[in-house]
Amino acid sequence: MRAKDARVLLTGATGGIGKAAARALRAAGARVMLSARSPEALVDQANALRSGGDIPTWAAADLCNPQQVQQLAAEAASWRCNVVVHAAGVPAFGPLAGETPEHIASVVQANLVAPMLLTRALLPHLQRLPAAQVIYVGSVLGALALPGFSVYSATKFGLRGFAEGLRRELAHTGVLVQYLGPRSTRTAFNNADVEAYNRATGTAMDDVDIVGAALVRLLEEEQAERFLGFPERLGVRLNGIAPAAMDGSFRRHGKSLADLPSLQERTEP
Ligand SMILES: NC(=O)c1ccc[n+]([C@@H]2O[C@H](COP(=O)([O-])OP(=O)(O)OC[C@H]3O[C@@H](n4cnc5c(N)ncnc54)[C@H](OP(=O)(O)O)[C@@H]3O)[C@@H](O)[C@H]2O)c1
Repeated sequence: MRAKDARVLLTGATGGIGKAAARALRAAGARVMLSARSPEALVDQANALRSGGDIPTWAAADLCNPQQVQQLAAEAASWRCNVVVHAAGVPAFGPLAGETPEHIASVVQANLVAPMLLTRALLPHLQRLPAAQVIYVGSVLGALALPGFSVYSATKFGLRGFAEGLRRELAHTGVLVQYLGPRSTRTAFNNADVEAYNRATGTAMDDVDIVGAALVRLLEEEQAERFLGFPERLGVRLNGIAPAAMDGSFRRHGKSLADLPSLQERTEP
């Protein structure tokens, strides 16, 4: 749909990509309801987006709390949202051996279960509309997994599978389901370890405004999915055809994991 017809519930609105998405959506004429956990950050974000007398509405919710997910869905439905952009997410990077069971479960909950539950809670409202869109902010790593990102990639591959299945399930309705796959992007999401890994492997990092602009294009052009960056798009294609044949391309990434600054600190005498 055209951005000026969109009333967007945006999760992760206080994050690096969320802020850029909110700016780009508003600049294109969309109305936006901002959501994240921190009310203080949401007030700041709403004020930063003020334009004349127009200030976006916001609703705080912890998406890992099922009651708060229901409450957010009810608020968004009464606000008459017709687009949901799921941009909330948490990182996970490093060798699997360094992950705790609790952290793995919390990453799966935030990146995969939470967007499923929010979508489920909003579907009755969205299906009553003549046209609605649900956009998941996934990742290139949801189609091409790299050493050090096994847990994170599992959540984003899962999200992509969920989006694909739901898109086909809802094909006879007015609800379009879409997936946006940014590549590495400069936000607080990526710690010093990820930045060192990206430098060592020659992985480019995008500015957040590239992702904001791509989100608006995806909304308006109504494609099923879009991945950002080259050679990432080519990598996604090839990996989709013959993943095992790609294994040898990531030896440098595997070696870079062993050289991470935090691992070096842990092993220093
Ligand atoms: N940065 C990258 O390199 C990159 C690349 C590809 C894809 N992505 C994806 O893009 C999305 C946004 O990433 P980002 O870089 O903008 O991250 P970010 O700056 O860390 O922002 C994360 C956002 O998610 C919210 N959030 C986290 N846990 C939440 C929870 N339990 N309930 C509600 N909100 C929660 C945070 O707000 P509060 O903490 O206040 O709740 C914040 O608004 C994520 O899904 C990420 O996987 C990022």
